[in-house]
Amino acid sequence: MLKIWVSWLMIMLLLCSIATAIAQSPADSKPGCRDKCGNVSVPYPFGIDDPGCAENEDMYLNCSQSDGDDPEKLWFDNVPLLNISVLEGSMIVSIPTSYDCYNQSGLISNVSYSINLGQGLYMFSETQNVFTAIGCDTMAFVSNEEVTYGAACISLCNETVSLADNSSCSGSGCCQTSIPKGLKSLYISSMSLQNHTNISDFNPCGYAFLADKRSFKASDWQLSGWPDGNVSDVVIDWVVETKTCEQAQANTSSYACSNNTNCSENGQGYRCECKDGFTGNPYLSPGCQDIDECADQRRYPCKGKCKNTPGNYTCTCPLGMHGDGKTGCQGFGIATIASVTGGIISLAIIGVLLYIILTKLRKEKNFRENGGMVLKHQRPWNGDLRIGACQESEKGEGMSAAQHLLNPIFSGDRAASLDFEARASFGTSEN
Ligand SMILES: *[C@@H]1O[C@H](CO)[C@@H](O)[C@H](O)[C@H]1NC(C)=O
Ligand SMILES: *[C@@H]1O[C@H](CO)[C@@H](O)[C@H](O)[C@H]1NC(C)=O
Ligand SMILES: *[C@@H]1O[C@H](CO)[C@@H](O)[C@H](O)[C@H]1NC(C)=O
Ligand SMILES: *[C@@H]1O[C@H](CO)[C@@H](O)[C@H](O)[C@H]1NC(C)=O
Ligand SMILES: *[C@@H]1O[C@H](CO)[C@@H](O)[C@H](O)[C@H]1NC(C)=O
Ligand SMILES: *[C@@H]1O[C@H](CO)[C@@H](O)[C@H](O)[C@H]1NC(C)=O
Ligand SMILES: *[C@@H]1O[C@H](CO)[C@@H](O)[C@H](O)[C@H]1NC(C)=O
Ligand SMILES: *[C@@H]1O[C@H](CO)[C@@H](O)[C@H](O)[C@H]1NC(C)=O
Ligand SMILES: *[C@@H]1O[C@H](CO)[C@@H](O)[C@H](O)[C@H]1NC(C)=O
Ligand SMILES: *[C@@H]1O[C@H](CO)[C@@H](O)[C@H](O)[C@H]1NC(C)=O
Ligand SMILES: *[C@@H]1O[C@H](CO)[C@@H](O)[C@H](O)[C@H]1NC(C)=O
Ligand SMILES: *[C@@H]1O[C@H](CO)[C@@H](O)[C@H](O)[C@H]1NC(C)=O
Repeated sequence: MLKIWVSWLMIMLLLCSIATAIAQSPADSKPGCRDKCGNVSVPYPFGIDDPGCAENEDMYLNCSQSDGDDPEKLWFDNVPLLNISVLEGSMIVSIPTSYDCYNQSGLISNVSYSINLGQGLYMFSETQNVFTAIGCDTMAFVSNEEVTYGAACISLCNETVSLADNSSCSGSGCCQTSIPKGLKSLYISSMSLQNHTNISDFNPCGYAFLADKRSFKASDWQLSGWPDGNVSDVVIDWVVETKTCEQAQANTSSYACSNNTNCSENGQGYRCECKDGFTGNPYLSPGCQDIDECADQRRYPCKGKCKNTPGNYTCTCPLGMHGDGKTGCQGFGIATIASVTGGIISLAIIGVLLYIILTKLRKEKNFRENGGMVLKHQRPWNGDLRIGACQESEKGEGMSAAQHLLNPIFSGDRAASLDFEARASFGTSEN
């Protein structure tokens, strides 16, 4: 009956912990606001549907269908927004590529591209993006709209090259160059030096675009391909306000960072980050939550006794052992010592018992050899347990004489429990 109650209680506890785990999965948007547009997450400070769902009007995004049957898409200005990262203060947009195409007679079509992120919160990531051109007679050009910055890269080849993922993009079929920090607008165009003369059969077009280093794959591009809505992923860095941390913190009512956060600056403005050892959305009340490191032994190893602290955790080695519990404990713990001692003691007891038994057996033997039969006839049959035992053993049945002798002194149950104790204490020493 007790067993049933205990297991029922265990099940209830398990269910409760699962339920709280689900309930505690942190919200990523303001209460009452959608946190997803199609399959793209929209974490606060960004918001959709209602301006009140976003931190400011520049972070209020358009989530709509471009066509009646299409799935909903998140838009940044007039380009699709694919991903928003609060942790990195970045987002990924999908931008059309520039190109120029030729046949034997010359230019067929050319398209350049320009985009302006405005003067506020956004700029192109100079660390994640790389300016890239594809083609065998291609000169690609990038500048900002004011043309206070400009760069170009040239790619040439006289025969087709296969663009592998590991190809270096260093000027044959593909070229790349970095962009400067702080760009807020882009103008990208591609041109040719010789109208793709003699090469338009295997490479009619040249392409130019900014690309996310992490997702760019040269093998996605074919020199023989024609443009057909080709796009590239571009990383845009954002801040929550165009102020320095110091300026923002001076006005606590408008400061965007919640509890347990750090303020970080990128020259453009500031954004918020959870302090080390905390997690969650740093812009939403009640702020970042302490990570329970002890509940995640894979990421936060602890070989000893784990204790969660605000922003960190301690890991102490078991009594008697030393070292850093996060990497491993050395020496013999109290549990090991205890179990070893226990083992020695039980061995000693067994030794003593064996000695007693052997001595008894020898005595029995002497007794039988030296006139035991006489005694046996003089005594009543069932009066002596020991003699009965010997007779049975002589018939060669089941139990040995030793077991029979052991039984009264050291019953089977006792032996089993001693054995169990020894194993149990060895078991704890393994942890
Ligand atoms: C999001 O949806 C689009 C189309 O609906 C799909 O192409 C894309 O792979 C999806 N992305 C993820 C991460 O599921
Ligand atoms: C969202 O975009 C659609 C079409 O692109 C447009 O009709 C609509 O007005 C936009 N909504 C907002 C709130 O900007
Ligand atoms: C967004 O980016 C994160 C990390 O960069 C990634 O784990 C996630 O799958 C991405 N989501 C989509 C919809 O691409
Ligand atoms: C090249 O393209 C132009 C315009 O599309 C066309 O008029 C011309 O015939 C083409 N030349 C050849 C050699 O295919
Ligand atoms: C397209 O090519 C023509 C002729 O070379 C040039 O005048 C024009 O500026 C180009 N347009 C674009 C958008 O590159
Ligand atoms: C390309 O140039 C190389 C060296 O200049 C030459 O050996 C090769 O034959 C050329 N290929 C074609 C198709 O003209
Ligand atoms: C690129 O990868 C291919 C196979 O994927 C391999 O055969 C080739 O040797 C690699 N080239 C370089 C320069 O690493
Ligand atoms: C390329 O074509 C243009 C006209 O389309 C022409 O003016 C120019 O001379 C050509 N250049 C070469 C190198 O063939
Ligand atoms: C194109 O090929 C012809 C014949 O092989 C050659 O005479 C001419 O110089 C080549 N033109 C260019 C621009 O490479
Ligand atoms: C552009 O996209 C189309 C359709 O996805 C594809 O067929 C073509 O090969 C792409 N262009 C290049 C240069 O890869
Ligand atoms: C946790 O504490 C250890 C030792 O005190 C320290 O080295 C580590 O940087 C701390 N980690 C965090 C996230 O504060
Ligand atoms: C920060 O935490 C304190 C208590 O720890 C709480 O009173 C306060 O409202 C929190 N601030 C925010 C912005 O959530």
